[in-house]
Amino acid sequence: MLRKMTKWSWLAVIALLLVFFGVAAARQQNTGGGNAAKESGKQEKKSKKNSSGETAGQKNMDQYKADPSQYVGSDTCKTCHEEQGKSFDRGPHWKTTLAGHQGPEWQGCEACHGPGKEHAESADPAKIIRFGPLSREESSKRCLTCHEFGEEHSNFLRSQHLKNNVGCVDCHSVHTPKVGRQLLKVAQPQLCYGCHQEVKPDFSKPFHHKVNEGLLACSNCHNPHGGFQTRQLRATAAQDMVCFNCHTDKAGPFAFEHGPVKTEGCIACHQPHGSSNPRQLRRANVNLLCLECHTFTVDSAAPAIPSFHNQAQKYQACTMCHVAIHGSNSDHFFFKP
Ligand code: HEC
Ligand code: HEC
Ligand code: HEC
Ligand code: HEC
Ligand code: HEC
Ligand code: HEC
Ligand code: HEC
Ligand code: HEC
Ligand code: HEC
Ligand code: HEC
Repeated sequence: MLRKMTKWSWLAVIALLLVFFGVAAARQQNTGGGNAAKESGKQEKKSKKNSSGETAGQKNMDQYKADPSQYVGSDTCKTCHEEQGKSFDRGPHWKTTLAGHQGPEWQGCEACHGPGKEHAESADPAKIIRFGPLSREESSKRCLTCHEFGEEHSNFLRSQHLKNNVGCVDCHSVHTPKVGRQLLKVAQPQLCYGCHQEVKPDFSKPFHHKVNEGLLACSNCHNPHGGFQTRQLRATAAQDMVCFNCHTDKAGPFAFEHGPVKTEGCIACHQPHGSSNPRQLRRANVNLLCLECHTFTVDSAAPAIPSFHNQAQKYQACTMCHVAIHGSNSDHFFFKP
């Protein structure tokens, strides 16, 4: 068959090959000329680590695609920016300089501020990435290049915070943090109260989670970096309500579950932040709380109270008899645990 090929078909094959190599060469140029081959090797390694393939953060980094000759290294920056050099050495990010196997775009000052050669030569602030002029989304994406891996931060781009234009730099400061660990601008809970005035009074109510006292932090229950639950709530490892992380005795499973504990969750009866009522209950009188569901009228899943519960004094204190209100392993009516 080969021998049968005419001169013209050979020419056609050669033409096709030329087109193919032409395209390949053009692609190389797009990915950054001379370094393309080396770079694409590196890219492959990175994307293996990050099984979701190319990510928004990485795309963002590509904008400042690494040409090693455009980087000068942190020591050069420090000669003119002594203060930031010191805060960098004190903080956690000095560790990026240990990543010798990665390119300069992953190390030191320039991992965040981008390639600095032109700036270092000219001292022109317009020739370096400054965080002030960036949008919250842009600056957050720069941080996420390294921090988006793992559960804690992987939902940030979808979080209520970023959607409302609150980015990493609103809560964290790389160079002038008030809380060195975690690089927070302000310690919790003041950091959060700064924007969430509306929840502050809850934590001064007579019965409250001791957040102001430092026993718990807002971030024990909420993930400020977002997640899959409503209200940016955290969850247990099994994706159950965050409350079970600490109140494990309420988790069960019980032989006799009290329906709403599992269906509606703890906040069907409790106010999570604080309340004027003992046990952070939603209602001052327990009987009124119970009767919201256990009524004679509504056709709810909750059985109505028996008629002998005449609401005379004796029957008002429901949990005096129904003590195991979160569920029981021995009694259908929750009379004992
Ligand atoms: C030769 C001295 C010199 C070197 C080297 C140098 N800078 Fe600068 N840099 C300056 C000067 C001068 C300014 C403008 C004055 C200012 O705002 O502090 C500046 C401004 C900046 C700004 C903006 C500051 C602001 O207020 O917004 C950043 C960020 C910055 N430099 C980072 C770096 C980084 C990162 C490096 C290393 C890659 C570096 N610089 C190397 C002199 C230098
Ligand atoms: C982890 C990312 C990160 C690294 C690493 C980093 N910076 Fe910054 N830099 C920032 C952010 C964010 C700001 C904005 C102010 C802030 O958050 O503290 C900033 C601000 C600055 C400024 C403006 C002045 C200021 O304090 O606001 C200078 C200058 C600067 N950085 C220089 C450096 C130098 C020099 C290094 C390395 C020794 C460095 N940065 C390392 C993120 C970083
Ligand atoms: C080049 C990769 C890289 C970039 C970009 C980066 N970080 Fe980091 N960050 C690190 C590493 C590495 C650590 C240290 C982790 C450790 O100690 O285990 C760290 C630690 C932190 C910590 C934790 C401090 C602690 O004590 O636990 C915070 C907060 C943080 N970074 C915020 C930021 C913010 C905000 C930005 C963007 C302005 C940013 N990072 C950009 C690599 C990066
Ligand atoms: C609304 C405020 C807020 C925003 C926005 C925010 N953080 Fe945080 N971040 C916190 C708080 C509070 C903690 C401490 C959490 C804790 O103690 O569990 C924290 C902790 C961290 C830590 C340390 C986590 C650890 O494992 O100990 C890193 C790293 C970090 N943040 C990076 C980022 C990055 C990157 C962004 C932007 C993509 C960001 N944060 C945006 C408030 C915020
Ligand atoms: C810079 C301002 C700012 C800071 C600081 C801040 N937040 Fe927010 N937060 C917002 C905005 C804006 C929203 C979205 C609008 C809203 O629901 O209030 C939001 C939303 C939330 C939500 C979701 C509310 C809902 O209705 O779904 C929670 C929970 C939350 N923040 C908790 C925190 C916690 C915990 C901290 C401290 C670690 C914190 N925030 C720090 C501005 C901030
Ligand atoms: C014990 C766990 C817990 C702690 C601690 C906690 N929260 Fe909440 N928070 C919740 C739950 C649960 C909800 C959802 C309430 C609902 O959906 O009715 C919530 C709701 C919110 C909301 C949404 C608006 C609202 O009032 O329903 C904001 C904002 C918020 N919390 C901020 C904070 C801040 C700020 C702190 C720290 C000062 C904090 N939370 C501490 C559990 C907690
Ligand atoms: C990080 C751990 C933690 C989480 C998460 C948590 N709690 Fe608590 N809770 C505590 C601690 C500790 C106390 C006891 C505080 C004290 O002594 O005042 C407490 C007390 C309570 C009380 C009052 C108990 C009493 O005897 O008065 C109720 C009710 C309560 N929590 C409900 C909840 C609910 C509902 C949730 C989920 C929204 C939740 N908790 C999440 C730690 C937690
Ligand atoms: C059907 C309403 C209801 C639901 C749902 C509910 N609780 Fe309660 N809880 C109560 C009542 C009523 C009390 C007070 C019992 C008493 O006074 O003896 C109480 C007391 C508590 C107490 C303090 C006394 C104790 O037993 O430790 C804690 C802590 C608590 N609840 C946590 C939770 C948690 C966590 C959840 C979610 C898993 C939850 N509750 C769901 C009604 C409820
Ligand atoms: C949010 C609604 C709700 C509230 C509030 C509530 N319950 Fe229930 N309760 C139910 C539902 C639904 C069932 C039925 C669960 C099932 O069959 O799985 C139930 C079952 C019961 C049972 C077992 C009855 C039976 O025949 O299975 C008792 C006893 C009970 N509740 C007592 C109380 C008491 C006491 C309170 C107040 C502390 C209370 N409940 C608050 C919804 C509620
Ligand atoms: C003095 C003890 C006592 C008090 C207080 C009490 N109960 Fe009961 N409750 C009982 C007994 C006894 C039963 C019947 C158990 C049976 O049928 O064997 C019962 C049954 C129930 C049932 C199951 C009804 C059914 O048909 O399955 C519900 C629901 C209930 N009570 C709710 C409440 C509520 C709500 C309160 C507070 C308003 C309350 N109980 C107060 C003793 C009490």
